[in-house]
Amino acid sequence: MPRPSKHVFVCTQARPPGHPRGSCSEKGCAQVMDEVLFQFQQRQCFDTVQITATGCIGPCGQGPNILVYPEGVFYSGVTKEDVAAIFDEHLLGGTPVARLMAPPDVW
Ligand code: FES
Repeated sequence: MPRPSKHVFVCTQARPPGHPRGSCSEKGCAQVMDEVLFQFQQRQCFDTVQITATGCIGPCGQGPNILVYPEGVFYSGVTKEDVAAIFDEHLLGGTPVARLMAPPDVW
């Protein structure tokens, strides 16, 4: 297996309704995850990008959240419409998408 240059963690955490932390699930992470997998398939970047659905990665109230390593770039409040830019500009283009990155007090 080739070593990927980017590892993308997509939070898919759900919590019961009314939970004080909320969750990325209640903010629409399922649609974001579906789009991530769609864009991944479209670009056939299987050797360079690894996608992992993960549990909570921290700031639940800012979700849906995506974390990209090795840089440790954190995207918050991601929508389905943002995903193509994350692929084109960051995962394949090499430049993190500044407008989608979490603010410094979050990450
Ligand atoms: S539930 Fe997604 S970061 Fe906590």
